[in-house]
Amino acid sequence: MNSREVLDTLARFEPLSVQGQAPVVWDRAEGVHVHDADGRVYLDWSSGVLVANTGHGHPEVVEAIVEAARKPLLFSYSFPTLERAELLSELEPLLPRPDDKILLLSTGSEAVEVALKLALTHAQRASGGSRRYVVSFERSFHGRTAGAQLAGGIPALKEWLQATEGPFVNVPFPDGFRTQDTSFDGFERSLADQGVAPAEVALVIMESYQGGGASFAPVSYMRALESWCRDNDVILTMDEVQAGFGRTGEWFAYEHYGITPDLVCCGKGISSSLPLSALIGRRELLDQYGPGSMSSTHGGHPICAAAATANLKVMRRDGLVENAECVGKILEAGLATIAGEYAFVAALHGKGLVYGMHIVDESGVDPDSERAIRIVTRCVENGLMLFLPVGFGGATVKICPPLTITAGQIEEGLQILVAAFAAEGDYRG
Ligand SMILES: Cc1ncc(COP(=O)(O)O)c(C=O)c1O
Repeated sequence: MNSREVLDTLARFEPLSVQGQAPVVWDRAEGVHVHDADGRVYLDWSSGVLVANTGHGHPEVVEAIVEAARKPLLFSYSFPTLERAELLSELEPLLPRPDDKILLLSTGSEAVEVALKLALTHAQRASGGSRRYVVSFERSFHGRTAGAQLAGGIPALKEWLQATEGPFVNVPFPDGFRTQDTSFDGFERSLADQGVAPAEVALVIMESYQGGGASFAPVSYMRALESWCRDNDVILTMDEVQAGFGRTGEWFAYEHYGITPDLVCCGKGISSSLPLSALIGRRELLDQYGPGSMSSTHGGHPICAAAATANLKVMRRDGLVENAECVGKILEAGLATIAGEYAFVAALHGKGLVYGMHIVDESGVDPDSERAIRIVTRCVENGLMLFLPVGFGGATVKICPPLTITAGQIEEGLQILVAAFAAEGDYRG
């Protein structure tokens, strides 16, 4: 099939909901480059939507996958395997507490679902049912399965569930842009306004940075939130599915806040490749259900686990977390220069190797999705791979290259980005 035929076939059979990205057929991806089926090469600043932290197809990750497949060991359910044990050992230094446990699963949404289940189970057992609220943040995203969508903070994504009332409540996310008040008072006030008492809250779930805009909360807010959770016996769950494994210049983004969550949801960059996720957290929470009762057919799949182990070894050996912090500074400076030149870039958020450029219309605040799409489209046409704008109003241009990127490749990408913004050129600040 040529590219046209591939695109036509996908459009014919796949639902609209998985369509919409730039019409480039990904044929091969190696390191920081994606190759299309017609031989064009793109510098990838998407990491395939924040997956390829060690780059695409890292040779050691590929080798681990091939080795596990050739054994052959294509499947194991929850029967014990060396591959799972090796991955758990590799994750051990990253545990928030030395005696934490780890549940291996397949997708980020699944890790979120299990976090909700465990925190709610704990709360019900401890309170006899009076602790029932799940508190999450406006504009947050935790996945696309039912529980994960209910826990999210994007009303349009929950309409199908017809659940406007229930144990899921949102509070403002203190990004300092869409929510100007970044004080922790805003959290407590919002709960009180919604008639929710601290003693009724089972858990707080939060993205360590909000994926839609690469937006962080202030450190002081997060420390106050941690104390509030401790004082009120509320389970603090950080969603690191997107933020984890070095993306922000720390292994976990919550480390920037100096907090210790009870539960941590992981996915995406944990393997840089095959579907694997994990829920990490307090032993007494993870051990609430007895043997056989929290299985997932492909959780900790041996080939995926082998890929994740190799991935984490490469990250450690090659200092990729440090690289994210180091070259991230060059990226941030370049993006800040662009943001400073155009009034339609209302905010630049991010850290390490993830940034969101928030594009607005003449009002200075309302999202301008069309302009953001034009910028992204122009970048892709000129060889810089970005995914469609995301976040509030679909107007955030998200920049997130693999953590293996070099300073030179950042300069190369910035040139394309500068030109894509310059082509908009009609209103400079
Ligand atoms: C913060 C966050 N949580 C959860 C998920 C869901 O992960 P998955 O798509 O693997 O189910 C995502 C995916 O983008 C995410 O960004």
